[in-house]
Amino acid sequence: MSIKKLIKWIIPYGIYATYRNCKNKHETMHRGRIESVISLDEMRINIGKDWISHPYYDDAEEWVNGFWSENSTFYKSFCQLDCTNIVELACGHGRHIPKYLDKAKSITLVDINQQNIDFCKKRFLNETKIKYVTNTGSNFNGIESNSQTAIFTYDAMVHFEMLDILSYIKDANRILVDGGKILFHHSNAAFSPELNYTQKPHCRNFMSADIFAYMSLRMGFVVLKQDIFSWGSGDNFTKDIDCLSLCQKVKSINNTNLA
Ligand SMILES: C[S@@+](CC[C@H](N)C(=O)[O-])C[C@H]1O[C@@H](n2cnc3c(N)ncnc32)[C@H](O)[C@@H]1O
Repeated sequence: MSIKKLIKWIIPYGIYATYRNCKNKHETMHRGRIESVISLDEMRINIGKDWISHPYYDDAEEWVNGFWSENSTFYKSFCQLDCTNIVELACGHGRHIPKYLDKAKSITLVDINQQNIDFCKKRFLNETKIKYVTNTGSNFNGIESNSQTAIFTYDAMVHFEMLDILSYIKDANRILVDGGKILFHHSNAAFSPELNYTQKPHCRNFMSADIFAYMSLRMGFVVLKQDIFSWGSGDNFTKDIDCLSLCQKVKSINNTNLA
């Protein structure tokens, strides 16, 4: 075969091979199982119900120091909050409150479950600076606009629906004063969106550090810090499954429409 003929044959084959490689890289995924289709409202209600009464609450009292020891990621970021008027979202049975009670002038506890709010009311019966809000799972209705210096949540938003987190970030912008901060512990498990959160490691719902940063930027916040970290130990150890995001309100977004 002459060199000319060889080149004529090699070039079209090369183009075909490149095309075939590219084509093979586009995998088709089938995620259309009917059980995976559930509305956001239904899912939020299910998640709320999962946490009405749970052995978690008693066990978790014993691990609370992990969030508050001086060298923990949580504590270092918490120290950057102005606690004057602080909101704790998804307070559960209130195990974190004694750790920051003295720093705050007013505390507002928010939770989707009335049972948890009632538990905290009993636990902190004599604390006059605590207010209570039972919400519908995606906003801070009942809290005045431009009134709060900080909002935080630990060990709860990791389970929330991503679209509810977006809604919370948007409403955080409404209730915070200019310069106010959010400190949200959320999931970094942006895989298997078709799975129920209970089927994923440590019940982490679909979310990532990057998606959270993107949503915060669109909702009037700058991202001051994101710490990605692992959760669990032994067989339950899951690498980089969580994130703690600290963001600051730099712009009011009153008219932003999500619809
Ligand atoms: C695992 S517990 C954590 C409680 C508390 N943050 C702690 O660290 O002890 C999850 C909490 O999230 C609350 N929750 C679940 N879905 C919620 C939602 N969409 N909005 C607000 N709270 C929610 C539950 O009622 C429960 O109090």
